[in-house]
Amino acid sequence: MAPALTTSTAHTIQNVSGKTLTNSRFNNNAPQHVFPDGIKTSGQLPPIYDQLRPYSTFPKEITGPTVWKSEDYKDNPERWTHPFEDVEIEELGEAADAFIKSGRDLTGIAKVVAVLISDDFPLPKLERFLTSMRTELLSGKGFILFKKFPVQQWGLHKSAVAYMGLGTYLGYFVSQNGKGHVLGHVKDLGEDATAIDRVRIYRTNARQYFHADDSDVVGLLCVARALEGGESDIVSSHHVWNVLQRERPDVAETLTQPIWYFDRKGETSKGQEDWIRTAVFYLETGPDGRVYSKWDPYYIRSLTRFSDKGLIPPLSPAQEEAASVLEETCARLSLHMILEVGDIQFLSNCHVLHARTAYKDYAPPAPRRHLMRLWLATPEDEGGWRLPFEDCNEKKRVCLSRGHKLPKDMRLLGDEYVKSEFRAHRDVENPVHIIGFLTEWQMYAQQLEGDSWRGEHMDRSKIDKMSDQQLGQMYELMQTIRKQELEENDPEHQGSH
Ligand SMILES: [Fe+2]
Repeated sequence: MAPALTTSTAHTIQNVSGKTLTNSRFNNNAPQHVFPDGIKTSGQLPPIYDQLRPYSTFPKEITGPTVWKSEDYKDNPERWTHPFEDVEIEELGEAADAFIKSGRDLTGIAKVVAVLISDDFPLPKLERFLTSMRTELLSGKGFILFKKFPVQQWGLHKSAVAYMGLGTYLGYFVSQNGKGHVLGHVKDLGEDATAIDRVRIYRTNARQYFHADDSDVVGLLCVARALEGGESDIVSSHHVWNVLQRERPDVAETLTQPIWYFDRKGETSKGQEDWIRTAVFYLETGPDGRVYSKWDPYYIRSLTRFSDKGLIPPLSPAQEEAASVLEETCARLSLHMILEVGDIQFLSNCHVLHARTAYKDYAPPAPRRHLMRLWLATPEDEGGWRLPFEDCNEKKRVCLSRGHKLPKDMRLLGDEYVKSEFRAHRDVENPVHIIGFLTEWQMYAQQLEGDSWRGEHMDRSKIDKMSDQQLGQMYELMQTIRKQELEENDPEHQGSH
């Protein structure tokens, strides 16, 4: 993963269409053509513990549109589906074609919700609907299913561009794994689903129990269906909370305590622990905090490799009981849906939990089940939830990053790059640029010998000393490395970004 720029002070910056913005999450030292969506931060973080509230302050009953029952929607799909109209598809297709023609990187699509109308991916006809849908996702029922997205007609590349462009109206892309993927490919890659300490279940055909993903909003575009199974179940965690209050308040209380360890599955940055200790249900910060849920049983059950060594406590009988009651309650209250090819499901991860049935693929050469996944962040001051995390107001929060020793071929690539950089900058006159450049690459050379490079934050002062051109070239190198990683680590990656 590319190094990240970090800042928390207010800045003024021009967006690609030349409009001037003042926004606390922009870094005015990050050239817009290099970091078009501004600042990047990384790291799954533990909560700020003194902002976690005791069970006694939680509501006994939650009311409002976030509380829904499957009976409310089961026989009324028109209340939660939006089949794209022809004019909307035309608009999406034109925006995607224009973006592809511009030759820009997919991760560069930017839209700052509520701050400006970006020229990056204009959708004048769809915009109003997408804005209301975003509110519905964050503060309403928390889900929607788009239909009739022409994935087969457009093919993977154009579909990915249009889908990601649509996503910019809902939030900011965050990476979904230690490899820095912002467009995840959910399909069975034949990985061992029982090796839950290192395998991500989305890359297998195993059942997924009720859980929330590590982002504010998750999108799934169905590219190909399975022969059987792979169906979706979703549930309002606020309805679950109310039912637990009535049936098992002891379980609800256990779930509010910060005694739950979640596995990082090795996707850690340097110096991070291999787990995060947190609660399952907690309250938003500030007055009238809503109940937020963060849950995934695969991530708590995979930690025996640490609890067996006494590094963290094992699950207590009360926790085992709470986990099983939570799963059973979610299953009992859930709404079932099947994603057809061309359907896009968007879900809130703040107050909706989702599950997937196990599935079986068609025999080759028929395509395997394939979903394209987006993880989107919705910062607090753009209507997102107020959560007790250090980076709650950053666009790029809950990205995953991981340090690696650079493999040999990437090292060669880096060496070649350094040589050409030296040649290109022989005549640079500004000594500050030269010093900054040399210092950075000296560090790079040192770290090649066994320490991590990718996933590291770059020191802001060094960034300040580098010219836009140097930054741009470093960024291009990182993109090349990332692309190479995608191809190496995900043979099924279709070259869609
Ligand atoms: Fe998920």
